Amino acid sequence: MGIPNRVGQGGTGPGAISPDGSPIELYERAEARGEDQLINAVIPPRSSILELGCGTGRITRPLVALGHRVLAVDESPDMISRITETETLCSTIEDLRLDRRFDLVLMISYLINVPDNEARRGLLDTCARHVNPDGTVLLQQHDRRSFAQNAVLERENHRLVISDVQQLSGDRQSATMTHTVGEDTWSQYILVQNLTEQQLTAELRAAGLELVDYLTPDQTWIRARPRAAAT
Ligand SMILES: C[S@@+](CC[C@H](N)C(=O)[O-])C[C@H]1O[C@@H](n2cnc3c(N)ncnc32)[C@H](O)[C@@H]1O
Repeated sequence: MGIPNRVGQGGTGPGAISPDGSPIELYERAEARGEDQLINAVIPPRSSILELGCGTGRITRPLVALGHRVLAVDESPDMISRITETETLCSTIEDLRLDRRFDLVLMISYLINVPDNEARRGLLDTCARHVNPDGTVLLQQHDRRSFAQNAVLERENHRLVISDVQQLSGDRQSATMTHTVGEDTWSQYILVQNLTEQQLTAELRAAGLELVDYLTPDQTWIRARPRAAAT
């Protein structure tokens, strides 16, 4: 029996689907869109990186090509089996307990917006447990404006339809994201918990981390560090 779907997440379409609803074949075809350069600009050369929720290695591969040493972690064996360029580990993020720490702990793809406070705490605890005392934690959070209304986005041969958008109580949003690439179509159902800066700061603090700044004007890329290093 596979891993059950995560709360409020799910997906349909050709090929295997990870427990959070992400289609493996869709991510396999996707490429980095500048994320690797954004990350590379704020870490030392040849950094050790723990990448949490790496998927098929869309960001892993360019980071390895830039000379960094990446341990790529994902709970989906189907996702992680596509990565051959570096060390990988199949694990849920919350359960990860390694006896090593890293210059950078990277957790993107809006995982921090999981609509479950306990799960979010588990994710942030894993980040804090594995970052060097003088290291960096980079997170990417959901932009609430992207679920303001139904929308259609087209780029190259990729069509994304955002439908069924709902503004829910407790500052949650949900939507269906339907991707069409060539002949193939995948739908992913998404429920996210938005975080105010005050909530984000408090949740980082509870995990022993501190907000440093945002890497992008839309404030979706968050830089944090261990609190002991903040003074
Ligand atoms: C949307 S995909 C993005 C993959 C990759 N970060 C990228 O940008 O291409 C999210 C990935 O996170 C993984 N994931 C989500 N929640 C997880 C958890 N709690 N523990 C381990 N992996 C998780 C999923 O299996 C999936 O591969």
